[in-house]
Amino acid sequence: MKNILVTGGAGFIGSNFVHYMLGRYDDVNIIVFDKLTYAGNMENLAPVADNPHYTFVHGDICDAAAVDAAMQAHDIDTIVNFAAETHVDRSLMEPGSFIQTDVYGTFVLLEAAKKFGVERYHQISTDEVYGEVMEGRSTETDRLEPRSPYSASKAGGDLLCLSYFTSFGLPVTITRGSNNIGPYQYPEKVVPLFITNAIDDKPLPLYGDGLQMRDYQYVQDHCAGIDVVLRKGTPGEIYNLGTGVETTNITMTKTILKMLGKPESLIQPVTDRPGHDRRYALDVSKIESLGWRTEFDFDRAIEATVKWYVENEDWWRKIKSGAAYEAYYARNYTGREV
Ligand code: NAD
Ligand code: DAU
Repeated sequence: MKNILVTGGAGFIGSNFVHYMLGRYDDVNIIVFDKLTYAGNMENLAPVADNPHYTFVHGDICDAAAVDAAMQAHDIDTIVNFAAETHVDRSLMEPGSFIQTDVYGTFVLLEAAKKFGVERYHQISTDEVYGEVMEGRSTETDRLEPRSPYSASKAGGDLLCLSYFTSFGLPVTITRGSNNIGPYQYPEKVVPLFITNAIDDKPLPLYGDGLQMRDYQYVQDHCAGIDVVLRKGTPGEIYNLGTGVETTNITMTKTILKMLGKPESLIQPVTDRPGHDRRYALDVSKIESLGWRTEFDFDRAIEATVKWYVENEDWWRKIKSGAAYEAYYARNYTGREV
C-alpha cells in the first residue's frame, strides 16, 4: 500500500480518512479523486494542501478515461472508494444520480482496479444495506434488504464488488459503516443540521416519533477501522464497522440541546421520512477480531462533534447560506410541521 486513490476524498468521511492516513503514516501517498458535487469541499482538505504526500485530481468516477488516467499517472496500487451520493432524503427526490454514482461508478472503479492489477480495492459501504433491523444485530452474512434508493444503490455496489472477487479474483474488501458524526459533515445529515440549527435558535425538524435508532460512530473510529481492514483484512470479506450501541433520535437531539444550553422547545416534530428505517444495529465482532476497538462512545463522539461545529462556524455558515443549500432545505422541510 503505497499510492492510494481515495475517491470521494473531499467529502465528510473521505477527508477525515485523508487526515487520518497522512497524520499517521509517512510512507503512503494519497491521491484524492473527487467530482466536487455539492457535498465535496476543498476546504475539508485545506490542512493537507501543502503535504508532499497528497495530490488532488478533479474527476468523476463514472468517467472511465479520467479514472484510468489517474491510475496510470499516480501508479495506484490501492483504491478506497468513498465516492457516492449519500443522503437518503435526496435519494427519495432524485434517485438517478445515486444509481449512476453508487452502482455504475463502482463498476468503473472495479474495471480500473482489474485492468491495473491493484493490491486492494476497498469499498466503503453502509449498515443501511441490511434494511431495518427490529431485533438482534446484522452480521456480515445476513440477507441484504435495502429499502431506499440510496441503500439499494449501495447494496448494488457491494454485490458488484463481491462479483469481481469471485469472478476475477480481484482482492476486494468491504466495510459496512454505521452513522458517522464528526468534523466536515455536510449539514444536511441530522447531527450537524441539528447542532447548527440549535446554535442559531432555529427549529430542529425531528422526523416522526423520534424513536428511530441509529449507531452514531465518531468518524475517526471509522477511519481507523478502514485502515485496519486495509492492513489485516482478508480479500473477499465484509466487515461491519460501528460502535454496536444504538441511540434514539430523540435522545441524540436532547443531548445536543443540553450541550449547547438550548431549550427542548426548539424540537419541531415533522412528518416522517417515507420508508424510514426504524433501527439499524450491527454485530461488530468480526472487525474486533482484527484488533480494532471503538474509542469514542456516543457521549464522547457527540461532545467532540458539537465542539467542532461551535469552533468552526465559518465552515458551515458558508454552506448553509448558499442558494443551493437553501433550495434543498425548503424542498425537504417546507410544510412538514405537525
Ligand atoms: P459525502 O456526501 O460527505 O461525500 C461524498 C463525496 O463523494 C463528495 O466529496 C463528492 O464530491 C464525491 N462524489 C460524489 N459523486 C462522485 C462521483 N461521481 N465521482 C467522484 N466523486 C464523487 O459522503 P460521506 O458521508 O463522507 O460518505 C462517504 C462514503 O461512506 C459513501 O460511500 C457512503 O455511502 C459511506 N457511508 C457513509 C456514512 C455516513 O454516516 N456518512 C456511513 C456509512 C457509510
Ligand atoms: O447508517 C449509515 C448511513 O447513515 C449512511 O450510509 C448515510 O450515508 C448517512 O446519510 C446516514 O443515513 P441516515 O438516513 O441514517 O442519516 P440522517 O442523518 O439523514 O438521519 C439520521 C436519523 O435522523 C434518521 O433516523 C432520520 C432522522 N432525521 C434526519 C434528518 C435529516 C430527522 O429526524 N430529521 C432530519 O432532518
